[in-house]
Amino acid sequence: MPDFAGRIVLITGAASGIGLATARRFAAAGATVLLADRNAEGLQAALQGLGVGPHEAIQFDVTDEAAWITAAKRIAGTHGRLDVLVNNAGFGSFKSIADTSLDQWRSILAVNLDSVFLATKYLLPLLAVSGRGAIVNMSSIRGIVAAPNTGSYCAAKGGVRMFTKATALECAALGNGVRANSIHPGHIATPLSAPAYADPKVAEKLLADVPLRRIGEATEIADAILFLAGDESRYMTGTELVLDGGATAQ
Ligand code: NAI
Repeated sequence: MPDFAGRIVLITGAASGIGLATARRFAAAGATVLLADRNAEGLQAALQGLGVGPHEAIQFDVTDEAAWITAAKRIAGTHGRLDVLVNNAGFGSFKSIADTSLDQWRSILAVNLDSVFLATKYLLPLLAVSGRGAIVNMSSIRGIVAAPNTGSYCAAKGGVRMFTKATALECAALGNGVRANSIHPGHIATPLSAPAYADPKVAEKLLADVPLRRIGEATEIADAILFLAGDESRYMTGTELVLDGGATAQ
């Protein structure tokens, strides 16, 4: 288990699924976890689930620029720095291009991609304070390989992948010690994906493309996020870590 004792970690989308599993792992590794989500009830349940500790819940919508400015001021005032930023909040859309309205397209881009830009823009000064800050951005295998009826999601997650590389290079040029890497899960069992996997026919079809023949667990993604955020990966920046049971190796 990596050691995050004394480190300040912000996770978006922390009320559910991969974000929640990641919050639990960081808390167990000694971090002070700042859980961000727009779901107030889920956020409080997640915070209580972490037990006694210095953790905090910050409720806001990650697409809201003013909310990011406020969150950055709050973190600066309370902690004076941020050691790890996990941009995880997001969701998919499974519609043909013809059936996708411009508003739907914009909402997928906003939650999955605009949020990563806003978080990076406003939190980078705090991430630079320790000289070893880390950003982990949630993409997907859909940021690397496409599929029909996922146009807006593929565009957003592909954007996250390239924005992460640009962030990594910009930070390296600045010499601020901040690393940025993206993470690319395949099919993972979470509330987001559960409805699809509940249909045995859908699950069977999805698993046909997964050499390891099983759906991944949120904790498996959380472990990889801790690796990318910690000192064990200190020579990694601008790269992408795929956890997909071998799906994209074929
Ligand atoms: P989830 O639905 O279990 O959790 C997502 C969390 O993000 C929720 O708590 C939700 O309230 C929060 N959220 C959504 N929009 C928000 C907004 N505008 N502002 C603040 N919070 C917001 O989903 P899951 O599966 O844990 O997904 C997490 C990330 O992993 C997403 O970015 C998703 O695209 C990505 N991913 C998931 C895969 C899967 O199979 N579950 C596969 C590949 C990537």
